[in-house]
Amino acid sequence: MTEKFAIIDLFAGIGGMRLGFERTGAFKTVYSNEINKFCAVTYKENFGDDPTGDITKTDAKSIPSFDVLVGGFPCQAFSIAGQKNGFADTRGTLFFDIVRILKEKKPKAFLLENVKNLERHDKGRTMKIILRTLKETLNCNVSYAILNAKNFGVPQNRERVYIVGFRKDVFNGLFGFPIGNKHSELKDILEENVPLRFFISKKRFEGMKRHKERHLSKGQGFGYGVLNPNECSHALVVGGMGRERNLVKDCESLKKHKKDPKFTEKNEECLRYLTPRECARLQGFDDSFKIPVSNVQAYKQFANSVPLPVVEAIAKNMRKILESGP
Ligand SMILES: C[S@@+](CC[C@H](N)C(=O)[O-])C[C@H]1O[C@@H](n2cnc3c(N)ncnc32)[C@H](O)[C@@H]1O
Repeated sequence: MTEKFAIIDLFAGIGGMRLGFERTGAFKTVYSNEINKFCAVTYKENFGDDPTGDITKTDAKSIPSFDVLVGGFPCQAFSIAGQKNGFADTRGTLFFDIVRILKEKKPKAFLLENVKNLERHDKGRTMKIILRTLKETLNCNVSYAILNAKNFGVPQNRERVYIVGFRKDVFNGLFGFPIGNKHSELKDILEENVPLRFFISKKRFEGMKRHKERHLSKGQGFGYGVLNPNECSHALVVGGMGRERNLVKDCESLKKHKKDPKFTEKNEECLRYLTPRECARLQGFDDSFKIPVSNVQAYKQFANSVPLPVVEAIAKNMRKILESGP
């Protein structure tokens, strides 16, 4: 099948949005932009394109023509002041750069992705400005939905807001978001024979237990958590206790390391972290996706990325509209 529609991949990370669109067979990526050098390494290794760039310093005129803008803009961007001027009020935020590009290039459509909390940020005012600004900038219809990755065939409880817009002359109806009715379980994505380094040392585990007790005694539910293989993982997140909320009990792998001198240093409950490959699978990346960076970077990259099956399902619906449009 020949790809009919050109997309640009902003805040490209490791290309999750791009992959979701390209999987439909109808879209090709003509431009990518990403500031983080480690993401750029992974991106280049997998797609051959170097996305290196700072969107705030990119002249919209230098971007080639395209049909659809896609971007999961960083949630750092919400310092939108006041409610009066929409577009002008977003200056100094990365959302402003998206709008600037929409204004110059007037694409047929866009898909933006963000954290679920965007909907409630600043008592809903931020979302209101975002939606209004998008509508006014592109003379488009805009709709959004909160979708959970776990309904689209990956065992991760990850709710995100997805915002879709179509220029009114392309489509003047209500965009139908996919619902998702495909479920899977954590055990479907777990690796076998996991290396010893992913298992938690006794010393570290003691610290984690103390940390959890301290929080529980204050009535807070924070601390490490062990996943049920028949359920979903929590959302992958960057930093903090993120990785420790998603521990796996894996005695099968651990016992294969009995002869390793470091075996006795490991916790007796066989608890380990998810591997980067398991994180990739939780976002729906195939095992052919290359991971050329350190584990530290890989964890960040997959946590920041998007669930590919959700993006793919949205892209399929967008494709139908684009194919039937003028
Ligand atoms: C939430 S992540 C998006 C990840 C992406 N959707 C993926 O599938 O991997 C946001 C990305 O925006 C990038 N970013 C932040 N500021 C930027 C800027 N000024 N110019 C270009 N990219 C930027 C970050 O480095 C990060 O990779």
